[in-house]
Amino acid sequence: MFQVMIGLVVHSQGDPRVGQHIAELLAPGQGRAANVDGSAAGIQPEGHWVNHRRSIRPDGRQAAQGMPGKVGVLGIGEDHASSLQPQPWLRSSPYSERVNRDTPRRVERPDRPRPGTTRMFATAVPGMAALVTADLEQLPGVHLTDAGFDGGSDLVLFDVDRGHRVHLQGLRTIEDLFAETGRTTRSDGDLPPGIASRAWPPDGVEKALSAWSAEVRPLSRTMTYQVIARVLQKRSFPPAELRKALGQVIARDKPRWNLASPAQLEAWITEYQPGRLIAGVRLSDASAPRPDSQKAARPGTLPPTVAAALVGLAGEPGDVLLDPCCGSGTILGEALAAGWPAVQGIDIDPEAVQAARRSVPGAGVLEGDARSVDLPGETVDAIVSNLPFGPEYEAKGDMRIWLTGVLNEMARVTRPGGRVVFLVPSIPNNVMPRDLELRRKEPLRLPGLKTRLWVCDRR
Ligand SMILES: C[S@@+](CC[C@H](N)C(=O)[O-])C[C@H]1O[C@@H](n2cnc3c(N)ncnc32)[C@H](O)[C@@H]1O
Repeated sequence: MFQVMIGLVVHSQGDPRVGQHIAELLAPGQGRAANVDGSAAGIQPEGHWVNHRRSIRPDGRQAAQGMPGKVGVLGIGEDHASSLQPQPWLRSSPYSERVNRDTPRRVERPDRPRPGTTRMFATAVPGMAALVTADLEQLPGVHLTDAGFDGGSDLVLFDVDRGHRVHLQGLRTIEDLFAETGRTTRSDGDLPPGIASRAWPPDGVEKALSAWSAEVRPLSRTMTYQVIARVLQKRSFPPAELRKALGQVIARDKPRWNLASPAQLEAWITEYQPGRLIAGVRLSDASAPRPDSQKAARPGTLPPTVAAALVGLAGEPGDVLLDPCCGSGTILGEALAAGWPAVQGIDIDPEAVQAARRSVPGAGVLEGDARSVDLPGETVDAIVSNLPFGPEYEAKGDMRIWLTGVLNEMARVTRPGGRVVFLVPSIPNNVMPRDLELRRKEPLRLPGLKTRLWVCDRR
């Protein structure tokens, strides 16, 4: 009989439970993890992160979208030698603590463009960089180069091989996509004009505009443009000075272009880590509504990119996905787009039910109470929900009692091995039902609201 050994190299910051946990994920009930020297802990002192969250489900099914039948072992290989060093990325984001731990270290030298690639970056809701990174890693021809937080958004930087930009069109977790013109660092005393001209070098601009004309519209000799600037260390100079400086650099480079607002082309320059800046032209139009959701947006509606990420965390589409507090149905729309065949929504507010039915006609939406769902036990493969907490929506009565009722009901209707993903700022002690095993918890900043993401497996 053959014995097959599969290796996962895991960085656990010394927690000896992690190796066993992964072994259990791989082979429930019979997993065994070992150190490289054969001792039975499964921990190496320093190694790579394995993104097992998206790769393996406890029932043995593979959870990451787009990689059927493969177990992902990420960040291993000589190419990624630099990934062995702990990276300082994202430390600046208060919403990205977990990103450092969960993001596989496929970081390559940021300052050297790969030949034949387009240098790009994407912005995401703060706290989402790890999820965006995981999505990008699934795409062929995409190489992550760096990441950060510019005070308003998470940023993920990457190179895309020739002919592979098309794959980015399916990305639903990013807010905006950019073709990079240039990146630079600044030191004390470095002033906006110097930074702006380094971030707008002729060869980088030519490449970025070629991507822009391919993705957005053909370039013309006279164009309108505007500049957006973000600076982390505002004590040195305000963002307006950097915006003005980049505007002047562009005016010298493209004398027939005119500043305007709104404009045909947006040039961004942003400090994504302290002292590190990147500039680029925006390829996406975030103001355009998605075709399949948001038709009846109400206050408190989730950004579709976040809804898409939550749905992604529910794993590969099974049969039934439920949102028991569906509001206008953003999550339902993203679940259908992700390929869930049966998507169900419930909301206690009849207006929300009407809105969700209008927005997402492909979903089944019923008026009801998340504390007593009209479904038999263990019939749902995944629950994904943005629970009613925040300025617009407050659950009525005692939060602890309300949450206890909703979480117990979520556990009851989900089948063992199913996934329960939700947003709520906090969960009081002893409220999480025993049937739900917490896998992941991290902060997320929605417009006007700091909340938390919770990912649980139904035992
Ligand atoms: C934050 S909103 C959800 C927004 C939704 N994710 C979206 O993007 O449109 C929370 C929703 O929970 C609903 N809700 C409040 N209490 C509920 C309950 N007991 N059962 C079901 N829905 C409830 C509210 O009516 C509201 O529509």
